[in-house]
Amino acid sequence: MKAKTEKSTPSASHGKKSVKSSKESLEDIFEDLLKDIYWAEKHLTKALPKMAKAAFSDELREAFETHLEQTHRHIGRLEECFELLEKKAVAKKCEAMEGLIKEGEESIEDHDAGHARDAGLIASAQKVEHYEISAYGTLRTMATVLGKAQCAQLLEETKDEEAETDAKLTELAQRINQQAAEFVGEEA
Ligand SMILES: [Fe+2]
Ligand SMILES: [Fe+2]
Repeated sequence: MKAKTEKSTPSASHGKKSVKSSKESLEDIFEDLLKDIYWAEKHLTKALPKMAKAAFSDELREAFETHLEQTHRHIGRLEECFELLEKKAVAKKCEAMEGLIKEGEESIEDHDAGHARDAGLIASAQKVEHYEISAYGTLRTMATVLGKAQCAQLLEETKDEEAETDAKLTELAQRINQQAAEFVGEEA
């Protein structure tokens, strides 16, 4: 973590540390959040192929494969953002994304392939999408207020794709959960 926000008492500016303006602090937070989602997206490019492989439903597998292609574009847009900011593209470990992916992997290991495991896979994938939608929404808003319109546009495009993926997964979940429930019913 970077230095915490300085408490700006009138005397603080006479100390050794330079006091950052609120806007400068917001820029720092924006950059940190960009690094976080950059790591998260890169991590996802490793997780999505595993999720696709674990999917029992062809439709779900295709949805994961499509989202993997989109995820590569998300990474590209983030790199464009770093370039626009004249900053090096640096990934900073996102503990939240690591945890979400880990939980998803555990769910795959704990269950046999089938409709029910697919329902669990979708649950994990939607948590990831919601994290991303939230992250990109925040970043887009920050970019806008910081006067970085081109970045804001790129972040908005990705946010929209995440939301489309989430909607697609909801649609699949409705069918797949039903199939899972019916299958259990037949066996009972
Ligand atoms: Fe993404
Ligand atoms: Fe995503």
